[in-house]
Amino acid sequence: MSHIILQGGARLEGTLPVQGAKNSVLPILAASILHPGRTVLQGCPHLSDVEASIRILRHLGCRADWEGGDLVVDASGIDRWDIPDHLMREMRSSVVFLGSILARMGWAEMSHPGGCELGPRPIDLHLAVLRQLGAGIREEGGCLRCTAQRLEGREITLSMPSVGATENAILAACGAYGETVLLNAAREPEIGDLQDFLCAMGCQVKGAGSSTICIQGRQPTRDVRHTVMPDRIVAATYLAAAAAAGGEVELTQVHPGHLSTVTAALHAAGCQIYSGEGRIVLRSEGRLRSIGTVRTAPYPGFPTDAQAVLMAALLRGHGSTVFVENIFENRYRHVDELCRMGADIRVADRVAVVTGVPCLCGASVRCTDLRGGAALLVAGAAAQGETRIGDIFHIQRGYQDPVGDLRQLGARIETG
Ligand code: EPZ
Repeated sequence: MSHIILQGGARLEGTLPVQGAKNSVLPILAASILHPGRTVLQGCPHLSDVEASIRILRHLGCRADWEGGDLVVDASGIDRWDIPDHLMREMRSSVVFLGSILARMGWAEMSHPGGCELGPRPIDLHLAVLRQLGAGIREEGGCLRCTAQRLEGREITLSMPSVGATENAILAACGAYGETVLLNAAREPEIGDLQDFLCAMGCQVKGAGSSTICIQGRQPTRDVRHTVMPDRIVAATYLAAAAAAGGEVELTQVHPGHLSTVTAALHAAGCQIYSGEGRIVLRSEGRLRSIGTVRTAPYPGFPTDAQAVLMAALLRGHGSTVFVENIFENRYRHVDELCRMGADIRVADRVAVVTGVPCLCGASVRCTDLRGGAALLVAGAAAQGETRIGDIFHIQRGYQDPVGDLRQLGARIETG
């Protein structure tokens, strides 16, 4: 499958269950090596990023296999503590393995993850929290060489609520002597899912979802079976597509509260939204209205990962909407591709002004990054004519079956 072909203009109708969350399962897979036994993950999405994590687990000496719909990890045989450069380059968020490898093995070695399409992606906060727990970290020649003969729990204040640094701190603290208290921790729901997984494994973690998380290290661990939480950004993506194309869709296996800032924005744009236990229904006539200013922020603020797909939904709206991207330096790479479809978007540094146009025209476009690619799906669903989307490997990092999902909702979509 090298590209996706979307015939726009069809209203989206139907019901769709939401896949498991990429940004939850990746730290959970890193956490699985804390236990020298079995982890069974139900509802684990089939994604290229998950396959990359599986390759890392196998490199470390773990077994990691799909058994039916479950992903089963056995970390009893772990015998390495390094992640080779070619595996790090596949997925920069592999840095979240650093804390768990240190906690389990006492050593860790990996190349610096480097930047990505969204910008430089520094890891200074990750390294700062690990050093405060007692890890020795040498950065030389683009490589991180880490030792942790004895991690000691302590109070740590994060200078900003970094999701990855919070996750790395939690995982390392699980291997530390005594209690660790994380202050100014990230509050994303995926951290709550990580906490639930760790507690099911026997670890003592509490406070996830708040800015203060406490970890009692070195607890006895046990085999664990865990169901991965639904992906709130995938849910936001399909709601944005229905909002843009018009129609009525119902998403199930979803936590409405996890994307309330997104549904509030779509409601302000003129959609009818119903949220119930594990389900969200959205009705839209297709032409939306502008919604003032959207500022991305750490959870519970508006998620940066939903910025591109909401922007795509508003391209045909009446009036102008201003986006302010406060999390990443370079997260408007999808704008040029959307403008090829007739969108009117002007960018100055972290601000993008979207002025609605009467219609979008299908075009040949290319994914620039994961969520920028998802935005092209949203715009293509609303455009007149055919949209051909290339470089879809970006989308496959985070969406299990975007073609099947959108087809199930009535889109005229195929792969080429
Ligand atoms: C996680 O990335 C997600 N990835 C991202 O999702 C998401 O956009 C981001 O959190 C924010 O919600 C995964 O969970 C795998 P951060 P992460 O550390 O952990 C700066 C997607 O599309 N920073 O909260 O890397 C950083 O440069 C992806 O699914 C430092 O300066 O996010 C960024 O500007 C994209 N130093 C900001 O903080 C550090 O040590 C937020 O980063 C770490 C981060």
